[in-house]
Amino acid sequence: MKSPSARISLLSLAAATLLSMATIGTAAANDKPDAKPFDVKGMFRNVCGFCHEDYGRKEGKGPKLMNSERTDQQLFDRIKNGKPGRMAAFGGVFTDDQIWQMVKFIRNLKADEEPKNP
Ligand code: HEC
Repeated sequence: MKSPSARISLLSLAAATLLSMATIGTAAANDKPDAKPFDVKGMFRNVCGFCHEDYGRKEGKGPKLMNSERTDQQLFDRIKNGKPGRMAAFGGVFTDDQIWQMVKFIRNLKADEEPKNP
């Protein structure tokens, strides 16, 4: 018989697997034109948050994005084309429209407000 703690860790493993499946499912569903609106915030937390901490409000492996002095076009180009060796290009994963939504999300970031979808 399994010990209770082994059962608990199996359960949390199953939960983590389900969560990541849900995330992948959402990304795939968004490729369809009639899919529900793009969840920038959730995507940002899962994909970009690894390097741009706290939704880009804090410096991490990548720079802080809030209050960036770059133009919208520069932010867009960096997300779409990446930077070799530092940040992946996301142009193959997201549509231009979705990338503009990320730019908007970044522009709306405030230090003292919970980020929300644009
Ligand atoms: C593997 C780490 C990593 C991931 C994941 C990542 N980035 Fe970056 N990002 C970086 C680094 C490092 C830079 C700085 C590149 C440079 O030297 O200009 C950067 C730069 C940027 C910039 C330009 C900021 C500025 O002021 O120069 C934007 C905008 C940006 N990232 C958005 C995103 C978005 C949106 C995502 C998710 C779709 C993302 N990043 C995912 C590491 C990452």
